Amino acid sequence: MSALPGDVVVEARNLQRTYDVRRGLFRPPAQLRAVGDISFRIERGRTLAVVGESGCGKSTLARMVALIEKPTAGQLTLVGHDAVSPQPDQRRELRQAVQLVFQNPYGSLNPRKKISTVLEDPLAINTSLGKPERAARARDMLARVGLRPEYANRYPHMFSGGQRQRIAIARALMLEPRLLVADEPVSALDVSIQAQVLNLLADLQAELGLAYLFISHDLGVVRHIAHDVLVMYLGHAVEQGPKARIFARPLHPYTQALLASTPGLSSQRIVLKGELPSPLNPPTGCVFSTRCPHVTQRCRDERPLLRALDERLVACHYAEKFLDGSPPVRADVPLSPPFAAPVAANL
Ligand SMILES: Nc1ncnc2c1ncn2[C@@H]1O[C@H](COP(=O)(O)OP(=O)(O)OP(=O)(O)O)[C@@H](O)[C@H]1O
Ligand SMILES: [Mg+2]
Repeated sequence: MSALPGDVVVEARNLQRTYDVRRGLFRPPAQLRAVGDISFRIERGRTLAVVGESGCGKSTLARMVALIEKPTAGQLTLVGHDAVSPQPDQRRELRQAVQLVFQNPYGSLNPRKKISTVLEDPLAINTSLGKPERAARARDMLARVGLRPEYANRYPHMFSGGQRQRIAIARALMLEPRLLVADEPVSALDVSIQAQVLNLLADLQAELGLAYLFISHDLGVVRHIAHDVLVMYLGHAVEQGPKARIFARPLHPYTQALLASTPGLSSQRIVLKGELPSPLNPPTGCVFSTRCPHVTQRCRDERPLLRALDERLVACHYAEKFLDGSPPVRADVPLSPPFAAPVAANL
């Protein structure tokens, strides 16, 4: 069932973020392009997963969408309002419409605050609800995330990692947001606990119609939770579209390599050569050209535009050649972490 346009919760157009990076006393600062030209939309009840190697700009994108950081350029529309330069009377509504869940459930909860305070604080600050009502809502929310209401009287250190992440999710939901930005929310958890938290997120989405921007380096997790996928490399989208299309037939050589490096997702073995380039000195032409097994001179000279092909967007001059049959296999030097295959300890 296709969603109506009114169901769009967040839309980003050509979002960019650059940082000035100092390079010593006598050299001018360099410009680091952490996010270059990212566009997407997420509808009610849908999840867009952003994947890519460490440093490709996932968290920078998450911070912009969560309104923690302003884009250098581009547009961001949240629940129908301009979120880059909002009208003063819309600021509060926008701040409540998007909430963030971080990777580390230990660091994100204040150890000196009881869970009841952690959950009630957003209500105390943003609403006129009285204490009994706030406490009742906190208890309801604990039940909703699968925790006992009496846990409200405990402190964060009394919980396991999975339980703390449930508490962080509960806190994020107290103001009834429309969009949850989750930056690697299960990466710090054991695999068995990961599945429980992912199931909880899926249940909450079905129940509340939440939109998720879900950041992950783990395609196994992405397969579980995403409707759409955005693959980033050095701040750029290289492939973007419905998860089912991309997982069934990745058309960008980088997506192919990511899938091939995730156990259980591909029978192929593609190991990329070369190091991830510095974002301070990105390759000319295609950003992936220094590591692509299929690189030609054209790729080094001419940056491929993101274009529509086979029901998704892809930025590769030669994407057509992967449309039929399985992509060719090449093996060279390993991918950089976290996509490198785990190396068995030499005991
Ligand atoms: N405040 C900042 N000042 C300067 N550079 C920054 C800043 N924040 C991020 N960067 C740089 O921007 C690039 C993207 O960083 P970001 O944290 O968004 O990557 P990421 O994809 O989230 O990585 P990871 O998987 O390791 O979390 C990196 O090169 C990083 O060093
Ligand atoms: Mg990050």
